[in-house]
Amino acid sequence: MKDCNERLKAMPFGGLYEIFGRANKLEEQGKRVIHMEIGRPDYDSPDFAKEGVKKALDKGQVHYTDINGIKPLRKAICEKEERRFGLKYDYETEISVMCGAAEVIGVIMLTMLNPGEEIICPSPFFSAYREQAIIAGVKLVEVPVLMVDNWELRIEEIEKRITKNTKMILLNSPNNPAGYVLDKENLQKIANIAKERDLIVVSDECYDEFIYGQEHVSISTLEDMRERTLVVKSTSKSFSMTGWRVGYVLGPLNAIKYINKVHQNFSTCVTAFAQWGAVEAFKHGDNFIDDMVKEFKRRGDYLYDAFTKIDGLKMIKPKGAFYAFPDITAFGMTETDFCNYLMDEAGVVGVPGTAFGDYGKGHIRLAYCRSYEDIVEACYKIKEALGKL
Ligand SMILES: Cc1ncc(COP(=O)(O)O)c(C=O)c1O
Repeated sequence: MKDCNERLKAMPFGGLYEIFGRANKLEEQGKRVIHMEIGRPDYDSPDFAKEGVKKALDKGQVHYTDINGIKPLRKAICEKEERRFGLKYDYETEISVMCGAAEVIGVIMLTMLNPGEEIICPSPFFSAYREQAIIAGVKLVEVPVLMVDNWELRIEEIEKRITKNTKMILLNSPNNPAGYVLDKENLQKIANIAKERDLIVVSDECYDEFIYGQEHVSISTLEDMRERTLVVKSTSKSFSMTGWRVGYVLGPLNAIKYINKVHQNFSTCVTAFAQWGAVEAFKHGDNFIDDMVKEFKRRGDYLYDAFTKIDGLKMIKPKGAFYAFPDITAFGMTETDFCNYLMDEAGVVGVPGTAFGDYGKGHIRLAYCRSYEDIVEACYKIKEALGKL
């Protein structure tokens, strides 16, 4: 077979997969491994959503559906968005349901950008952004957001990276992996730049529900921002439905109609019966979400207290999402060596911060969406392992 296209040759292999592979091997050998590498809630999906799927299958909902999602799902999503976040979108024209937020973001890049154009993106970021930009033939320009700055996004860092090729700002709040939340004041400054420079804003709000002690603000709700913002969301985290592959985008019709075109030519539609199950999640899931988020806060609080008692590990308490992203530079190891050490000595699997962009350097990510008991055990074992260094 001939080589893949030139763009894809820039796509890194190895790294992460090596760590996952090693973790699986250790487990096969009978070693106790605590998986804190994957951003997947440990909860089962809600029963009422599963019942929805069963009923749909019995009724023969096994065929292609509307490209942009079945009408009852679009309606249920828009009702939930208004109920919980005050977002108002027309379920007929201003939403498209796709195979997870991952498909949504890739499709947005392919739809809205010309090859060679640039996306400004606060870094560290969700690792797929970088690879999707490579696939789309566009440039992801990293803007540092650093722990030494209290994870505050410095607007001047965005301004100085804008070029004539910049067309989009890609935000993610609450943030994976750093756990920060962009407040209204910060968002307003970003909105001002977007308006001044006529940029599209893609706002990845997959963790909108996982926010501890403050309000989630969508940049789309700020003055004159609705018409230039695409809001990306998913059932994956909020309803613990990562394997269902149901995500969606909310935005103005003139963008959604082209987004639908690209999506149609990739996946046609989301699995029919998964969509029917998701309807039930959006209709009846508020208590499920609230209970899960409360429990995740308990786990995050425990982990933060435990980590602050470990010499050398520096961390700021996450305000949202469900990741710890401590600074490990005091240990004088590379991120990968540190993760391997934790795996061998503590049986805890984490992800090197460099997987999340250039400014993830000096950090590792540990997902605290595992059981409370696992978190307690992991904290104890990490403290013990690091105490030996
Ligand atoms: C910030 C962020 N965006 C998007 C996604 C993708 O979510 P989905 O499962 O809906 O594709 C993830 C998954 O981890 C994520 O962390």
